[in-house]
Amino acid sequence: EKSIAPFEYIGNEKLSELVDTFYSKVSQHPDLFPIFPDDLTETARKQKQFLTQYLGGPPLYTEEHGHPMLRARHMPFPITPTRARAWLSCMREAMDEVGLHGEFRDFFYERLKLTANHMVNQPEGPG
Ligand code: HEM
Repeated sequence: EKSIAPFEYIGNEKLSELVDTFYSKVSQHPDLFPIFPDDLTETARKQKQFLTQYLGGPPLYTEEHGHPMLRARHMPFPITPTRARAWLSCMREAMDEVGLHGEFRDFFYERLKLTANHMVNQPEGPG
């Protein structure tokens, strides 16, 4: 019996809704908006591709952009522990808003927390 990928559990529509809600929060968060582009359309498109494969769905991100090398791709941006916490708080709020609850949410959020902490590349500071 084939197991169900987490991606199939959340589905394309809900994932897309989550990512759009998440970036609308990022664009308003004082710790985050300064390091993001003003227009987040392309960022959100890439994040949908990335999270699809992160959750075991089709490798859409890699097909278009190559190996994610996520930490390397974040190196141009100063990511402090405060920014990682801000990113995760936007994600929690977005999860609440789109009604993502239960075991799937806990599983997904715990993975995102590990990845977000892995992206930290600057100590706390004015940067
Ligand atoms: C891109 C910030 C965590 C996935 C970016 C960009 C910034 C950023 C500034 C560039 C946006 C652009 O130019 O379009 C942060 C901060 C994080 C964080 C402050 C806090 C820890 C994460 C996590 C993931 C992630 C946890 C995945 C689970 C991505 C992806 C891109 C991206 C897929 C697009 C890469 C590309 O250009 O191909 N992030 N990020 N980020 N981030 Fe993050």
